[in-house]
Amino acid sequence: MENDDAWSPPFHEVETQTAVPYGDLHALSPFVATPQKAIDIILENLDLDSKDFLVDLGCGHGTINITAAKKYSVPGLGVDIESELISIAEEQAIQDGVQHLLQFKTQDVLETDLSCATAVVSFLVPRHLKQVADKLKTFLNSGGKLACYHYPLQGVEPTKVIKLKEEFNKSIFIYNNKK
Ligand SMILES: C[S@@+](CC[C@H](N)C(=O)[O-])C[C@H]1O[C@@H](n2cnc3c(N)ncnc32)[C@H](O)[C@@H]1O
Repeated sequence: MENDDAWSPPFHEVETQTAVPYGDLHALSPFVATPQKAIDIILENLDLDSKDFLVDLGCGHGTINITAAKKYSVPGLGVDIESELISIAEEQAIQDGVQHLLQFKTQDVLETDLSCATAVVSFLVPRHLKQVADKLKTFLNSGGKLACYHYPLQGVEPTKVIKLKEEFNKSIFIYNNKK
């Protein structure tokens, strides 16, 4: 497991202008979209169906929620600190005809209530993930399913680690005690 205090440049590409200052990259999570291939693997490994409710903590363009709604009819919530990204997610959900299943909200992940969630996805950087770690551990202990892309939740053993060679050796960490 990587040392969460160590920092190395985590992203090969930043795809949009973002209000998150790059100087704080180690502490804040800038917008970088999870590749579609990785999203498909994440959703498959979360064993989702229409009874689930999926929350994306830092949802960017909302592609994870939108893909889950299109492929598995999974309702959900995407939250992001950047209102411009939330607008893009809302428009895309309408274009894809899944807006009735999804809500996108401009919100700090620290404020996000996970009591409605059965599954959560995260692509937050380690120090940021640490700030929601207690909330995620409570969520897992209550039977929730979690997938972390690239950055694992420290202090919890994943039930599965999927290494993605094509994605610059990034990994998907699945936490699902129900399996
Ligand atoms: C690496 S991107 C992941 C985007 C999306 N989940 C995906 O995988 O395609 C991280 C996202 O977290 C958002 N973010 C950063 N800090 C946040 C905060 N405190 N609360 C909510 N979202 C935040 C960023 O704006 C960015 O869109």
